[in-house]
Amino acid sequence: MLANKRILLIIGGGIAAYKSLELIRRLQDQGAEVVPVLTQAGEAFVTPLSVSALAGQAVHRDLFDLTAEAEMGHIQLSRSADLLVVAPATADLMAKMANGHANDLASTLLLATDTPVLLAPAMNVRMWEHPATQRNLATLRADGVACVGPDEGSMACGEFGPGRLAEPEAIVQAILAKLADGPLKGRRILLTSGPTHEPIDPVRYIANRSSGAQGTALARALRDLGAEVVFVTGPASVAPPDGVQTVPVETAQQMADAVAAALPADAAVFAAAVADWRVTSASDRKLKKSKDGLPVMEFAENPDILKTVAHLDKGRPGLVVGFAAETNDVVENATAKRLRKGCDWIVANDVSPATGIMGGRENAVTLISEDGAESWPRMDKDAVARKLADRIAQALAAAG
Ligand code: CTP
Repeated sequence: MLANKRILLIIGGGIAAYKSLELIRRLQDQGAEVVPVLTQAGEAFVTPLSVSALAGQAVHRDLFDLTAEAEMGHIQLSRSADLLVVAPATADLMAKMANGHANDLASTLLLATDTPVLLAPAMNVRMWEHPATQRNLATLRADGVACVGPDEGSMACGEFGPGRLAEPEAIVQAILAKLADGPLKGRRILLTSGPTHEPIDPVRYIANRSSGAQGTALARALRDLGAEVVFVTGPASVAPPDGVQTVPVETAQQMADAVAAALPADAAVFAAAVADWRVTSASDRKLKKSKDGLPVMEFAENPDILKTVAHLDKGRPGLVVGFAAETNDVVENATAKRLRKGCDWIVANDVSPATGIMGGRENAVTLISEDGAESWPRMDKDAVARKLADRIAQALAAAG
């Protein structure tokens, strides 16, 4: 599926660099040519010999390598590729890119290129979460750089959290999506999904029955049409798809923050079942049974993420889509909700228990726009997702 595609793979320095060897194999399995570049720090983790042996060609290492300069200048090297992939992308490489430094081969290639760039960041959790890295990430995104991962999990340094290099298969999927000539190629789409959990105390929370299945299916469908998908998901019971940038959150407030950080986007789709309230009196200790009677909980309203984004003066996505889960008067309620929220479309569904939709395989939706209500036949959630993704592609194409 990547036949005739040339991928320039920049391997940064980090313990995850060993995974780039598997990435080379998997890209070749897809028919791609991999042109490898190894940073000086990368050489501390993988040897030039193993990289060039796997790639089947010499590895580029030095900005002032005269032989390479004679055969192919660094500018041409960066431009002859269909895609530049940085894996692992270290905090240092990201900082250089965000600030336009060009003091070694990798940073020079990244500054000189006019081809799309995909980063697979990998670093210590604290480094990833540091405001400087997050600032650089926001700058790079605004420059049109795509990102896959990082994943969350236990790390070589013994800490736990986001910072692990995405799995090679997920990077391959992101590359396929980036190079796919689908109608959403070059479009960035933000998608919320899953339930939110609002803590009562460290062991109890308020939740809802959303499985995240419809949102996840939509993420896959948008990815398959070539979109760069930022998938902000609450604690769903289905796994997020590969090849999308997954931002896991727990509460509505965290979801709102993640959405704000992920903008700008060409379209934003809000499929999450966000809790309307949070417990303001949440305890940091487990609540105990007491002779003094039952605990009393105080609630506060959560930010309405859809409404906030739909009303943005600056940076409103071109298409804003909400979902409406209703149990009665579906079209009437959802039509009113579209106006109340200020979004362009509402995808309404009937979640009364008799339908078996919430947590089930199928969905029956009505698409509500300014043109009216259009009911789709009941179909499985993947089919609903593909149809909705097609519609989004058509709407963005029509808007130019
Ligand atoms: N939504 C959101 N942030 C919230 C609440 C809802 O982004 N705090 C989004 C959902 O993702 C969905 C849409 O708003 O796309 C509709 O959510 P819903 O809960 O059905 O609407 P409400 O405004 O809460 O209306 P009601 O509960 O009265 O039906």
